[in-house]
Amino acid sequence: MRARYASCPGLRWAVMDIRALAFPDASFDVVLEKGTLDVLMVEETDPWDVSPQAAAAMHRVLTEVSRVLRPGGCFISITFAQPHFRKPHYAQEAFGWSLRHAACGDGDAGAFHYFLYVMRKGQPLEPRDAALGRRLHQPPPPPAPPPPPAPPDDDEDYLLAIQL
Ligand SMILES: C[S@@+](CC[C@H](N)C(=O)[O-])C[C@H]1O[C@@H](n2cnc3c(N)ncnc32)[C@H](O)[C@@H]1O
Repeated sequence: MRARYASCPGLRWAVMDIRALAFPDASFDVVLEKGTLDVLMVEETDPWDVSPQAAAAMHRVLTEVSRVLRPGGCFISITFAQPHFRKPHYAQEAFGWSLRHAACGDGDAGAFHYFLYVMRKGQPLEPRDAALGRRLHQPPPPPAPPPPPAPPDDDEDYLLAIQL
């Protein structure tokens, strides 16, 4: 990438772990990611029920993104992850940003849609999105107790009445 864009003056390249960004707080107007956060979900077997480990890894990276954004700055995320899977991760009040999304791409041409998420630092989440986010980190409800044993069935004497 550095070689390909050598003709663009003013670009600086840095390599680092997304879980620990080596930038000061509030140092960017825009953070853009494309497909990088998806790596945090590749080992998940059920997108409807993300493991606490994957949810925590996502939270950690997003905490870093929020930290380096200036007030009024934008985090833009481009991914194939559909809103019902990805919005709960982004819709956390702790990040101090709002959330919008749009579907992109031509689904009719046999291609998948991809999604653009835009988070603006310093703007509030919609209450519906905040509720989505809260559900993500709630402990799962306790398992339902087993049903009580069925009472003996008095009607089973029909078995005795079978004439063989
Ligand atoms: C699906 S690729 C997307 C790459 C690029 N954004 C694109 O659109 O072509 C995911 C990238 O995340 C990088 N990656 C995975 N874990 C990372 C981490 N902890 N910190 C920084 N990059 C990471 C991988 O090396 C890989 O290049």
